[in-house]
Amino acid sequence: MSSASQIILALDVDNLQAAKNFVDKLYPQIKIFKIGIQLFTSCGREIVDYINNKGAEVFLDLKFFDIPNTVAGAVREAVRLKVKMLTMHILGDEEMLKAAVSARNDEAGTLKINKPLLIGVTVLTSKDTASSDVLTLAKIGIECGLDGVVCSAREAGLLRKEIKKSFVIVTPGIRQANTASDDQKRTTTVQEAIASGSDFLVVGRPILKADDPLRAAKELV
Ligand code: C5P
Repeated sequence: MSSASQIILALDVDNLQAAKNFVDKLYPQIKIFKIGIQLFTSCGREIVDYINNKGAEVFLDLKFFDIPNTVAGAVREAVRLKVKMLTMHILGDEEMLKAAVSARNDEAGTLKINKPLLIGVTVLTSKDTASSDVLTLAKIGIECGLDGVVCSAREAGLLRKEIKKSFVIVTPGIRQANTASDDQKRTTTVQEAIASGSDFLVVGRPILKADDPLRAAKELV
């Protein structure tokens, strides 16, 4: 894998102990762990602190989508949790995105810490969609000051070509040829994702459900 691209493990499990077990087993092979709505609802900041204390980094994938003031408040809390990156829906509109950016800048400035990356969700990879929809949303997100977007590797090349600013691409829906696609529709392999310009590749079930998760992670890396 190119040194510029990194694999993120989606910790889609339902309890703290299971999440800790995966972190213990897979760090430092995997250096960034994604906490989504299930795990965060189950155990909240405890798992965030656990990962940070271990020396790994957190991708807080709660996909914020609410009125600007509420999202700004949630972003401030995420900054205080010292996460590396977090997500929000670009469909939440421009005012919401700009409020998120300014809350992030303000809170990170107050705490004198690195700003977490704000990543916009375009269209979920479980949906079959037109690339033009993804491009339209990605343009809005980047214009509003987000640091990057989530999209399938199938659109990453188009986004790199059409959006002239520098931004980060996060790609879920990674499946090697011999693995199940589960509920993902727009899947790609690690190789395709990197070739099309993805910086971060999010992998869940291909590692979580493997007989030997460490070996599966090593193979992907
Ligand atoms: O198990 P799998 O590899 O399909 O996991 C993909 C992960 O990426 C899940 O945690 C899912 O929530 C997340 N994700 C996604 N599509 C997006 C954004 C996030 O599949 N557009």
